[in-house]
Amino acid sequence: MTSLPKEGIAWPELQLQLQDAGKHDADWRGGRVPMFIHYAGDDVLEVAKQAYLMYFSENGLGLRAFGSLARFESDVVRMALTLMHGDDATRGAMTTGGTESIFLAVKAARDQAKQRRPGMGTPQIVMASSAHPAFDKAAHFMGLQVVRTPLRADFTADPAAIAAAITGDTVMVVGSVPAFPHGVVDPITEIAAAAAAHGVWMHVDACVGGYIAPFAKKLGADIPDWDFAVPGVTSISADLHKYGYTAKGASTLLFRDEESFAGMGWYFDGWPRGQYFTHTLVGTRAGGAIAAAWAVMNYLGEAGYRRITQRVLDTRRALQAGTAKLGLPTFGDPQLSILAYGSAGIDTAAVGARMTARGWVVGHVTEPPGFHHMLNLTHEPVAGRYLDDLATCIAETPPPQRGATVTARY
Ligand SMILES: Cc1ncc(COP(=O)(O)O)c(C=O)c1O
Repeated sequence: MTSLPKEGIAWPELQLQLQDAGKHDADWRGGRVPMFIHYAGDDVLEVAKQAYLMYFSENGLGLRAFGSLARFESDVVRMALTLMHGDDATRGAMTTGGTESIFLAVKAARDQAKQRRPGMGTPQIVMASSAHPAFDKAAHFMGLQVVRTPLRADFTADPAAIAAAITGDTVMVVGSVPAFPHGVVDPITEIAAAAAAHGVWMHVDACVGGYIAPFAKKLGADIPDWDFAVPGVTSISADLHKYGYTAKGASTLLFRDEESFAGMGWYFDGWPRGQYFTHTLVGTRAGGAIAAAWAVMNYLGEAGYRRITQRVLDTRRALQAGTAKLGLPTFGDPQLSILAYGSAGIDTAAVGARMTARGWVVGHVTEPPGFHHMLNLTHEPVAGRYLDDLATCIAETPPPQRGATVTARY
């Protein structure tokens, strides 16, 4: 068993050990990892790292002490709200990631419904089967139920099915931009209308799309309106540590108005230390993550995000064309950076195992069985190599046995 060393170990030795420990990790720089990483170039990484280190010790819990962080957070939130068609009434805050943003949106929606509808039963979230498990996690932790509705043939959420599932106990309806499994954008306008008709909170999970969809749309992608431009949208989660390209530990949670925003906060004074208030689930927050988000957003600006988005979209199109040629058509019509593809005639689990043996970390989707990619610039130079290896692995693999299934791990 490992115990704390009796004496400390010198940094040069530890540095070597740290380098050595990563030797067998997947080669994300070489484009071998289908998700987890959002790389936009060494220059962007350097800005994020330098900014992070400059505010490494400062704590986002203590905005009273660190006016710098308060300013960075306020600027980040304003930039986000402008991008997502906010107005003078819209509000928001930074959190440490998509899951935290979703937890806090669920908490705010639940508390508002409980206040407005005294005597209601177990609060429910209604969402499509493709919505992220962070909602189920939040529901499990906070005592809500989740009702998942079937998808339409194009893998988008079905507004009619969502409308039909809303009950007097529904406290939140969810739409995704895009949903993680197939990368398709849900019809937010229609879902928001169904929510509004029942007086229910509508959350848009743009954890993946928040910082890529606005630029993709300007570049001509066919993306329906999804943000505060849509009446009935109450809150939006949008992750900076995904397509904002900043340091991990950064997301934004945005609200239609002051009242809904207030539900994100939590106040307590029943202990000997007086008042305790946070907007976040966590207490201490890495000042570095806040500073890095501010620095990267200002470093890239609109032009930088557009340039990177164009390259990510081109890579997705190249992969779509290449995989279709191999007999693996894309599921649905993804407009952003995620794509899933497969075919009943190809044993994707067995092909995936061969790809793994060739050094690729393989992402799978289970319904229908296929492959899954969330793209970034590391994939751009290796798309051709990936397709060549995929063609070889398909040629080496016998057709699927009847009833074969795929297990997809995150
Ligand atoms: C659509 C969607 N929502 C939420 C999340 C959760 O984000 P995080 O892993 O930052 O908690 C993810 C993660 O991939 C996602 O794809």
